[in-house]
Amino acid sequence: MLSLLSTITASLLLTKGAYAWGALGHQSVGYVAQQFLAPNALSFVQSSLGSTYSESLGPAATWADDVKSQKAYSWSSALHYVDAEDNPPSSCSVSESRDCGSGQCILTAIANYTTRIAQTSLSAAQRQEALKFLDHFLGDIGQPLHVEAKEVGGNDIDAICGGKSTNLHAAWDTGILTTNVDANHGSSAQTYANDLVARIQSGTYKSLTSSWLSCTSTTEPASRKRSIETDLFEHISARATITPLECPLVWAQESNAYDCSVVFSYKSGQDLCTGSYYNAAVPVIDLQIAKQGYRLAAWLNVIFDGATNLP
Ligand SMILES: *[C@@H]1O[C@H](CO)[C@@H](O)[C@H](O)[C@H]1NC(C)=O
Ligand SMILES: [Zn+2]
Repeated sequence: MLSLLSTITASLLLTKGAYAWGALGHQSVGYVAQQFLAPNALSFVQSSLGSTYSESLGPAATWADDVKSQKAYSWSSALHYVDAEDNPPSSCSVSESRDCGSGQCILTAIANYTTRIAQTSLSAAQRQEALKFLDHFLGDIGQPLHVEAKEVGGNDIDAICGGKSTNLHAAWDTGILTTNVDANHGSSAQTYANDLVARIQSGTYKSLTSSWLSCTSTTEPASRKRSIETDLFEHISARATITPLECPLVWAQESNAYDCSVVFSYKSGQDLCTGSYYNAAVPVIDLQIAKQGYRLAAWLNVIFDGATNLP
């Protein structure tokens, strides 16, 4: 009984803080990406993930959160974020040298697993690990509080969601997202992903997708402007473990900017999962999940098919 109780307690604790974007958010990013894979990327994903993950980036997207609390993978927990030392809501920025000086953050992790997934000399298990990390980290980098150091990415800021006590980080990982998906997308990651894909293919996101594939940093000179294709061609041809990639930095800067415009603009005591805060947050979360899913597909398509194959 005691051991049963402690098992239950341990799994409750695990569930509580374990998921970034929550399982729902991560799976949705994966399901969006799955629908835009080019032929070689799709066949790699299917054979690498196999029946364990229903051959899909949706179910595989939460693996990195499942293992980070295990001893064998504890080294990976620092790879889920970058601690931007800025000061929202008055000033927002991400700098690779300032915020990832240790070389252990989501920016370097994406570079590392991008190299490794393309390395045919690695084992199938190692390349599957690289795929599952990319599947997950391209989601995390779109969550504004995964690119923010302030108050431990909002974990130390008390908040209220739907009348319940939580913290700012958890409200963004799960509270607001779940409220929205329950209310508007059939309480299902797959349905939510399908709805976002429809916006990408023929709805409000259609005119935006080409800009999602370019990586124009606000802090780099024009000569460094890249696209997902040029960024990856340079990185893979360099054959080094970690060479600076421009796109992940740009994605981090983009989501970090929401810390100044939306995330930290709450009034004390305000319920974040209803009313004006919720109404401002939902379009940001929808956009970030759709965009990161689309970018994940583009990323894998360039690696395996040599081009994004996307409009
Ligand atoms: C790259 O990934 C491998 C395999 O997960 C890991 O052992 C290594 O520490 C990573 N290297 C860097 C620099 O992150
Ligand atoms: Zn994570």
